[in-house]
Amino acid sequence: MSSKLSIQGLQKTFVVNEGFGRTRSVHAIEKVNLEVLDGEFVCVIGPSGCGKSTMLMILAGLYPKTGGDILLDGKPLSGPGLNRGVVFQDFALFPWQSVRTNILYGVRQKKIPASEHEGIVKHYIDMMSLQGFEETFPNRLSGGMRQRVAIARALALDPELLLMDEPFGALDAQTRGNLQRVLVDVWEQTKKTVVFITHDVREATFLADRVIVMSARPGRITDDICVDLVRPRDILSPGFVELERRLASLIESQSDDS
Ligand SMILES: Nc1ncnc2c1ncn2[C@@H]1O[C@H](COP(=O)(O)OP(=O)(O)OP(=O)(O)O)[C@@H](O)[C@H]1O
Ligand SMILES: [Mg+2]
Repeated sequence: MSSKLSIQGLQKTFVVNEGFGRTRSVHAIEKVNLEVLDGEFVCVIGPSGCGKSTMLMILAGLYPKTGGDILLDGKPLSGPGLNRGVVFQDFALFPWQSVRTNILYGVRQKKIPASEHEGIVKHYIDMMSLQGFEETFPNRLSGGMRQRVAIARALALDPELLLMDEPFGALDAQTRGNLQRVLVDVWEQTKKTVVFITHDVREATFLADRVIVMSARPGRITDDICVDLVRPRDILSPGFVELERRLASLIESQSDDS
């Protein structure tokens, strides 16, 4: 199978203005190479500050890169675009818009005919089990429900790439577990290519086809691990527990070096 997403020699250095004409360079990402196959679910883990969010922001087109190449479907990626859906940890919904209008945000930008809007809303409302909340505003929803809306909004774009930065990081353990199961179901239905960033090795072990481990800053890829466990995954099975431990120790060894 060919690569959906190809990252070659990606580098990112931030130039931070310290005032009085002084600047400081923060070398966030160092020569990251990564190939993601069509329909693959890739999780990226690594110690805090290693450049995971920076990489996601570059893939979303929200930060410029300072070196390397990124190809999506063989075409260079530059700037934000409606071919990528993004879900962040902090509920980036529009508070002044209903669930329906939030879901339709990108659909309208894509200039999809209005006659199709209702069908799209219904499809993603059903997929994310949000029936009855179409006219509700985000401040009336629980954190878990808001992230369901954020996922529905990202998927309604029918994106080539779904980018997720710790989307369940602010949720309680039970809601997080529920949404992880929902996400696996949705991914199996939609066959989207997913890049999912997390701190949580159990989450990565539960979700991913492959787990990419990044080093402490400047972030490089140190390990690329195939998760060979059947779905739905049992977090108590010996294979699961073993991989979870292995990933935890890989992150720990990265954190020790920093
Ligand atoms: N806009 C910015 N300007 C300057 N430096 C930045 C900026 N964004 C991130 N950095 C720096 O780049 C490095 C990587 O940050 P990033 O947020 O990508 O890490 P992360 O792996 O997502 O961390 P965490 O796990 O805590 O979310 C950090 O040293 C951070 O301070
Ligand atoms: Mg981050």
